[in-house]
Amino acid sequence: MNIKIADLAFEPLITADTIQTRIKEIAVDLNKDYADKAPVFVGVLNGCFMFMADLLKEITVPCEVAFTKLSSYHGGVTSTRRIRDDFDLLTDITNRHVILVEDIVDTGNTLDYLVAKLSHRKPASITVVALLLKPDAVEYPVEELKHVAFQIPNEFVVGYGLDYMELGRNLNGIYKRVV
Ligand code: PRP
Repeated sequence: MNIKIADLAFEPLITADTIQTRIKEIAVDLNKDYADKAPVFVGVLNGCFMFMADLLKEITVPCEVAFTKLSSYHGGVTSTRRIRDDFDLLTDITNRHVILVEDIVDTGNTLDYLVAKLSHRKPASITVVALLLKPDAVEYPVEELKHVAFQIPNEFVVGYGLDYMELGRNLNGIYKRVV
């Protein structure tokens, strides 16, 4: 069913059930890869909050959970490229295995910036898990991006943590803009 958020119309792209099934598959891989590594999961707010919560429910290895907040969209439908560092990661990640959790990699600008910033803190490793990747939009490829739940077309999407004008984050599926 199509929905309206502020002035834009959206149609379903990925259902809640499909998201949950894919999250379980990714968690199987992470539980295997990080069995004895006590990883630190670092969520990139705000968009990650639903994905992070559902992913962590499937993680069975000992792990820590932390957050940082960056933003580049500032409410609109395209990345502004100006990254605002809203709050820093407070956990000491020196010699720790870090798993960054992102809702979406669009141009890759945010991830490129964050991986470079955290690398200076000398973690044992950094891996990125992203719910969504727009392969056709990537301008900054990030080699640490190892797990992607869904590759999607280069279209504006909302739901399951992602917003338009700060609205729509509460939707349990992902919707794309009707153009
Ligand atoms: C989104 C998303 C990523 C970034 C991706 O954040 O969560 O961090 O944009 O775009 P990029 O690959 O072009 O850098 P946004 O600025 O919308 O902030 P939010 O998570 O608080 O919604």
